[in-house]
Amino acid sequence: MRQFTEDTLTDAVVARLKKTKNPRLRQIMSAAVKHLHAFSRDVQLTEEEWFEGIKFLTAVGQKCDDKRQEFILLSDVLGLSMMIVALNHKTAPGATEATVLGPFYAHGAKEYESGADLREGCTLKGEDVWVSGRVTSVDGMPIPGAMLDIWQTKADGIYDLQTDGEFELRGRVKANAKGEYAFKSYKPKFYSIPVDGPVGDLVRATGNHHMRPAHMHAIVSAPGYQQVISHVFVEGDPYLDDDAVFAVKNSLIANYKKLADADAKKLGLPAGSLRLDFNFKLSADKAGAKKARQKITASDTVA
Ligand SMILES: [Fe+2]
Repeated sequence: MRQFTEDTLTDAVVARLKKTKNPRLRQIMSAAVKHLHAFSRDVQLTEEEWFEGIKFLTAVGQKCDDKRQEFILLSDVLGLSMMIVALNHKTAPGATEATVLGPFYAHGAKEYESGADLREGCTLKGEDVWVSGRVTSVDGMPIPGAMLDIWQTKADGIYDLQTDGEFELRGRVKANAKGEYAFKSYKPKFYSIPVDGPVGDLVRATGNHHMRPAHMHAIVSAPGYQQVISHVFVEGDPYLDDDAVFAVKNSLIANYKKLADADAKKLGLPAGSLRLDFNFKLSADKAGAKKARQKITASDTVA
């Protein structure tokens, strides 16, 4: 076939994909081609605009390195990340809702027992917080040994990965035999997404702000349960209603309350410290739920 026009080209490209052995790849690529062609027709894309797009995506790739992930940031500000979360994390009613991973997750954070101090080695002091809660199933069964992978900004709204420092305010905290977890940290602060790259240029060009409400990130996982990637947001934050990456959910907003001075003293925290109580509830993993539930019941009896 030859002599394609704007009316026949899309079908020709899709037909060429029919030889793709992997059916899912064929489905995804066919839809991508159809939508890309429809998009270019819809806006009557000029050659100059097409090349601007190529330059933009090139710059996004060039901005990425082992600490900076500009493509995730782009996906976040376009709402694609939250769309993927919505499509893929239809949790059971009552389960902790999922939200974006964001670009600042790092593998290999230190593992801690419950009660640990995540402020260790942090280069900037903030408002001290005792963070505690339980990890349970949706119907309230404790999940012993659940793992909480925690990361957040320092008190200036900057993540450790944005500086040359070691891991700070980041750690994998293991819940105890009753599914309870606790750790010391600092209160997170609202922050600007990184705007010194092409995604920042895009946000400015569209007249939007680039702020995210303060939050603590958590990935909570346990055998037999669906892992949840989530945030705990700070009640009263000025950016809760227009998060630059569309990630706020009402069930994830929590109040940082004052910790009683006597409790602070017992925990080795200064007077005036805060407390954050937040329970995580995990949906059963369809395949492994029954097995895990039996294990938890046995552990409960021991505890
Ligand atoms: Fe974040």
